[in-house]
Amino acid sequence: MQEHPFQFARKISTLDHASRGRIAWNIVTNGLPNGARNFGLPSLTPHDERYRWAEEYMKVVYKLWEGSWDDDALLQNRASGRHGDSTKVHRINHVGEYYQVEGPHLCAPSPQRTPLLFQAGSSRTGMRFAARHAEAQFLITPTPAIAQGVIQQTRTLMQEYGRAPEDIKFFQGLSFVIGSTEEEVARKNRALDEALDYEAMIAHLGGIMDIDLDHGSLDDSISALQTEGAQSLLDWVRAAVPEREPTVGDIGVLAGRASRISGTPEQIADRLAVWQAIGIDGINVVNATIPGSYREFIAHVMPVLQARGLARRDFTSGTLRQRLCGRDRLAPPHPAARYRGMFHS
Ligand SMILES: Cc1cc2nc3c(=O)[nH]c(=O)nc-3n(C[C@H](O)[C@H](O)[C@H](O)COP(=O)(O)O)c2cc1C
Repeated sequence: MQEHPFQFARKISTLDHASRGRIAWNIVTNGLPNGARNFGLPSLTPHDERYRWAEEYMKVVYKLWEGSWDDDALLQNRASGRHGDSTKVHRINHVGEYYQVEGPHLCAPSPQRTPLLFQAGSSRTGMRFAARHAEAQFLITPTPAIAQGVIQQTRTLMQEYGRAPEDIKFFQGLSFVIGSTEEEVARKNRALDEALDYEAMIAHLGGIMDIDLDHGSLDDSISALQTEGAQSLLDWVRAAVPEREPTVGDIGVLAGRASRISGTPEQIADRLAVWQAIGIDGINVVNATIPGSYREFIAHVMPVLQARGLARRDFTSGTLRQRLCGRDRLAPPHPAARYRGMFHS
């Protein structure tokens, strides 16, 4: 939303061409008041209005990516000297609440046309947005049980849009402390906790939750707090400590500890099998050090996951959507597909 959709659609198509169809887009409505002010808005747009705005944004880019060029518009015929058939490249003439975009799209169709669509944000409105648009969703829920709840609710909403449960893949963000013995794991955990700056993490996450830390303490309760910022993150901080009053300090715990899995590679594989069993399709390895966290995971945990059939050994070829979903293009009933063949001007 903070880049005009016409320009954004063009950039993404160019990247999708250049990468031969490897582009994904994480659609987020952002929760930072400062971000809004940097783009000329007086303050953060209210939460649900941001999602309404995002709905229109999606409509504009789908029209450009899917509807503006017919499949047979690009000729590239050397003999006739014709690059394209202009009768098959259409204006979209979008007129909405936030945007007016005439078109046509400036790029010939790229391998995926619409990039693979990720979404992050699991408030009630965010889940509905995901149910309609997303092919993959990022989560950082504190427990598998909470992730399971989000997955079930999103899948129930997907039915309203005629989409199948497997049309969204769920990716949980997790960090890892890996050791060959339990003593080594305990030592590395202590070292990590000493190195982590919990106040900085609270400031970072508190920013997108729109919580003002200048006027309170780490012990302040956040149970009654309402926010126009990131609502799911706030819900997950509260859900991580069901037995007591959640506080500002717990925001750092969600960021630094709740999504941390510690153990030997075998123990880590056991825990990942639990996440998989409740419906998580993939993980995001959250780093403590770069590239150390990734190197350790690849060297020690991946072989165990592969041996247990929890991770792939080989990669298939083709576009990113082909690898993840088994097709290059979005298919009906996804809302992007309805714009194909819709325009004639
Ligand atoms: C797992 C996760 C990842 C996120 N990643 C980003 C991001 O990369 N950039 C960003 O601006 N906002 C990001 N957000 C914040 C969302 O844009 C923000 O939470 C927004 O209000 C929508 O979330 P909600 O539906 O949970 O309220 C992320 C939120 C979550 C939960």
